[in-house]
This record gives sequence, structure tokens and C-alpha cells, in this order.
Amino acid sequence: MAAFKITLFRFDPARDSEPHYQDYVIDPDGPLSVLQAIRHVYHHEDGSLSFRNSDCRRGVCGICSMMINGRRQLTCMCLATDGMKIEPPPNRKIVKDLVFETD
Ligand code: FES
Repeated sequence: MAAFKITLFRFDPARDSEPHYQDYVIDPDGPLSVLQAIRHVYHHEDGSLSFRNSDCRRGVCGICSMMINGRRQLTCMCLATDGMKIEPPPNRKIVKDLVFETD
């Protein structure tokens, strides 16, 4: 699989006055889910990234739900592709980056 770019929402309420988006280029050995791509960024590019992690990875727990290109989806069930924008759902209080308060 060729290298691809994803854009992630970043916001640390303790430090940032405004949210912003950050691009990351991933050069994987093979296909990755969006959740795996986020994990790749965390482990290889930017350890300051916060996101909800789960070992289910099968669309069961729902903890990985985020907006992908404006549509709410389970990131463990979607294949990462070039140009994807990943962010929390609107109208959610942001804890940090991709971690938001749930119901
Ligand atoms: S990790 Fe459980 S639904 Fe995605």
C-alpha cells in the first residue's frame, strides 16, 4: 500500500486556545483500518496524540466511533485511505484531541 495522508483533529483544552487540524503521512506495510492508522500515528509519529483505544477492533464496543470525512463511523471498521479527515462528533465536549465526552 502506498503512503497516504490523514488529517486529525487536535485540541488540548489545557494548552490550546483553538482546535486545529494536523496532517500525518503514513507509509504502511499493508492496509490499515482508520483506528490502526491513528495508532500508527501515536506510536510512530506523535505520542502526544490522545484517542480512545480498544482491543475489540470488530465493531462491537463502539468506543472508536468518530467522524470520518463528516460521517460518524466506527474507525476500526473503515479502511484508511488518502485524504481522510478524522475528528470528534460535533457538539461534544473535547477532553483532548480525539477523546470526547460521551452520553
Ligand atoms: S474498537 Fe470496538 S467498535 Fe471499534
